[in-house]
Amino acid sequence: METSDPPTSDIANAVEQSLDKLGVRDAAGLEGLFARLEQRLRDDVGQVTTGGRGPEDIEQLRVRWLGRKQGLVRSITENWLRSAPAELKADVGKRLNALRGSAEEQIASIARQPTVDKWSQPLSEPVRQRPYSAAAPGAVEAAPVLAGELDITLPGTRRTIGVEHPIRRVIREITEIFLSLGYSVEEGPDIESAYYNFEALNIPEDHPARDDQDTFYVDPQTVLRTHTSPVQIRTMEKMQPPVRIIVPGRAFRHDAPDATHASMFHQVEGLAVDTHITFADLKGTLDYFLKAFFGPEVRTRFRPSFFPFTEPSAEVDISCIFCGGTAGCRICKYSGWIELLGCGMVDPALYSYVHYDPARYSGFAFGMGVERLAMLKYGVQDIQLFFQGDVRFLHQFR
Ligand code: DAH
Repeated sequence: METSDPPTSDIANAVEQSLDKLGVRDAAGLEGLFARLEQRLRDDVGQVTTGGRGPEDIEQLRVRWLGRKQGLVRSITENWLRSAPAELKADVGKRLNALRGSAEEQIASIARQPTVDKWSQPLSEPVRQRPYSAAAPGAVEAAPVLAGELDITLPGTRRTIGVEHPIRRVIREITEIFLSLGYSVEEGPDIESAYYNFEALNIPEDHPARDDQDTFYVDPQTVLRTHTSPVQIRTMEKMQPPVRIIVPGRAFRHDAPDATHASMFHQVEGLAVDTHITFADLKGTLDYFLKAFFGPEVRTRFRPSFFPFTEPSAEVDISCIFCGGTAGCRICKYSGWIELLGCGMVDPALYSYVHYDPARYSGFAFGMGVERLAMLKYGVQDIQLFFQGDVRFLHQFR
């Protein structure tokens, strides 16, 4: 070419003139011309797709390029091919065929895309005015999905699938075991009255648990429950024996956070009340549960203890799951046993609050810390890990 390349927008005019007039006399000149035509074709097609236009626009594009009477391909045939010098004719013909082929293909391909018609209707004003279009001018128009460029054959954006939080998982495992024993699940409020949290559980006025060093008070009569035990009372108030429930839920204590303390944690409470319930039932139930939860090889041990709401009370240990109970590791402090949960026979004093006949009914109760069970089962050293939401930790529970 002797002249500098006109912009591709002028190429449409060029097809109205002969090659001679355009000063194109060799293969290199032809190549430049057809390259600009291809570019122009891509621009035209692009305008229709990114502009999100409908079927009429595609038809217009087809007429413009392939129309029998005035299409660009037709004009090239008329104005370039017919009058081309003999030595260029074959070359022009070949390039023209290629151009026609690529126009046919590209136009057919956008016509096939349902997206153009379906999802690219002009956006409603509120969507266009979303703030991010101001931050990045043109962003909305260019966004491929909004603009109808969505190619449904491309692989989608992968969303990583989350995992069940270890605390949820342990609560689910505990629940499944007790459901299989015929228990049902009860819940109670996190914000609890001092009556349910302390008084009806036989916790006296001067008990250290009532101290505001240990308890979050909302007001003098209202606390963030310090344990799930108040749901024992709430449940007995609303149903008659036989009662067999567990209560998974949150509890709160005014504790400084460290590797084994958090001011919010989880417990699962249990309560069974019926005629003829004995300490043997309590032992059998918890032994069954702990073997189901930790594995059939664990042994259990009940040690005398004290809780205001049970009499007698016991602390339950399991044989150390790390050294197999051989008293050979630091975790069990070389005792072979790990302290796990509190339990006991329901103190008859509680029955007077809920109008159960203590001569007729007896029962047992237990309460366990979910984080503690989870730390032991999964070998987690720091309770804070459960609350930090760090995916590097959480992903390990896949
Ligand atoms: N509520 C007690 C606590 O938070 C745990 C507990 C001990 C619950 C003995 C009980 C029980 O139901 O019988 O430390």
